[in-house]
Amino acid sequence: MSEPFPSLRSFLADVEAAGHLMAIRHPVDPYLEMAKVIYALDGRPVLFTDVMGSDYQVAAGICSDRRYFAMALGCEPERILFRLAEALAAPQEPPVVQEAPCQEVIEEDVDLERIPFLTHWEGDAGPYATAAIAIVPDPELGPNASFHRLLRLDRRRCVARIIEQRGTDMAYRRTMGDLPVAICIGLPPHILLAAAMSPPPDVDEMHIAQALAPTPLVRCRTVPLYVPAVAEIVLEGRITQQMAAEGPFMDLTGTWDIVRQQPVIEIDCITHRRDPIYQALLPGQREHRLLMGMPREPTIFATVNEVCECLNVHITPGGASWLHAVVQIRKRHPDDGRRAAEAAFRGHSSLKHVWVVDEDIDPFDPDDVEWAMATRFQADRDLLIWREQPSSSLDPSATHIPGQKSRSAKMGLDCTIPWDSPEGPEDPALFQRVPIPRIDPTPYLEA
Ligand SMILES: Cc1cc2nc3c(=O)[nH]c(=O)nc-3n(C[C@H](O)[C@H](O)[C@H](O)COP(=O)(O)O)c2cc1C
Repeated sequence: MSEPFPSLRSFLADVEAAGHLMAIRHPVDPYLEMAKVIYALDGRPVLFTDVMGSDYQVAAGICSDRRYFAMALGCEPERILFRLAEALAAPQEPPVVQEAPCQEVIEEDVDLERIPFLTHWEGDAGPYATAAIAIVPDPELGPNASFHRLLRLDRRRCVARIIEQRGTDMAYRRTMGDLPVAICIGLPPHILLAAAMSPPPDVDEMHIAQALAPTPLVRCRTVPLYVPAVAEIVLEGRITQQMAAEGPFMDLTGTWDIVRQQPVIEIDCITHRRDPIYQALLPGQREHRLLMGMPREPTIFATVNEVCECLNVHITPGGASWLHAVVQIRKRHPDDGRRAAEAAFRGHSSLKHVWVVDEDIDPFDPDDVEWAMATRFQADRDLLIWREQPSSSLDPSATHIPGQKSRSAKMGLDCTIPWDSPEGPEDPALFQRVPIPRIDPTPYLEA
């Protein structure tokens, strides 16, 4: 049956029709086996139809390449930034429906062990849900949606990693006692992207999702929250004041995240679609990286545009899609490159290194960016270094003091053509690639 609204299922059908889906019918164990298969197929959407120990199917890697996001958003991969920026600028209220696929089956006898949370690697603390979107009611700001990895503790409880000073943490701190939560698993790419974004605190991420594609909501059964009607699984419960050990967990940079005392979540009711599909997201690999990095591209774009004309931003995979960015500008003033680098850090506080390039350099081509650095950059003139800056908790080389924001040095590389005067470079031709005519060599190869 075709889906009336964009859902995980409709997206799987789309990638299958485009010839990208890898369907795995072989039985696979979510305990230490499935992650290895997903890893081996990184970059391809995968559907496991025979999951050992569970009635659920498992989908993974559905957003493991920019082109899959582009398919979901109906644009070219290089235009994703602009679609996200438009949605941020004009959020839309989603419609509310009375009946929803996510409530086809209601389980009050909660058993999280029936859901195939993956234990990814030897050394992980246990079975984790990694594509879980937690929706909470902030008493002052309204609903907030955000990703939180969940370590399953038993049939009814899990412990969540909740990063300090972000939406969920702020709502939790403002609440006496338990904070209601609805955890949604199995969502289409546009809702995953919206949840990964950090709009202004009073903007509901579901309104961003609706601006990207239709996102009807339904009221939960046991908590005063609204969730995407198309979700495969919804865990309704409470973030309690009880703490438990969370971690170790292999995180974004492919290194171990430490063990912390984090809030325990108690689940009171599970609702799901018939024949539910559980969604897995492999930590530290392409999908995780893209979902982290891409939503920061429009925020960097906006802050750079405040100081000069920004043309595009690429958060690069080599920097774990979080710590490095290439910013493309149209240079009109000798200082534009330096000002753009400074502004980029304001647009993404975890950014560590940024390269600024001209309009003739492709920010998505690492060789092109390196060429600009090789031919236009001088370290004693164009390198900017800031010491002891607030930085990412995910960078193992940063300074981490418990309870405090991590700190690291930051570096900007102005790889734009140097301008000696406000009018422009003395001889711009010196910095341009000489155009070489391209011919078809076939006739030369014939005998
Ligand atoms: C795949 C993925 C996994 C994430 N895991 C966590 C997590 O475990 N804990 C957390 O606090 N934030 C996590 N985040 C980051 C939050 O989603 C991010 O803080 C959110 O975008 C901030 O929104 P907010 O400012 O509304 O809270 C993750 C993000 C992504 C894309």
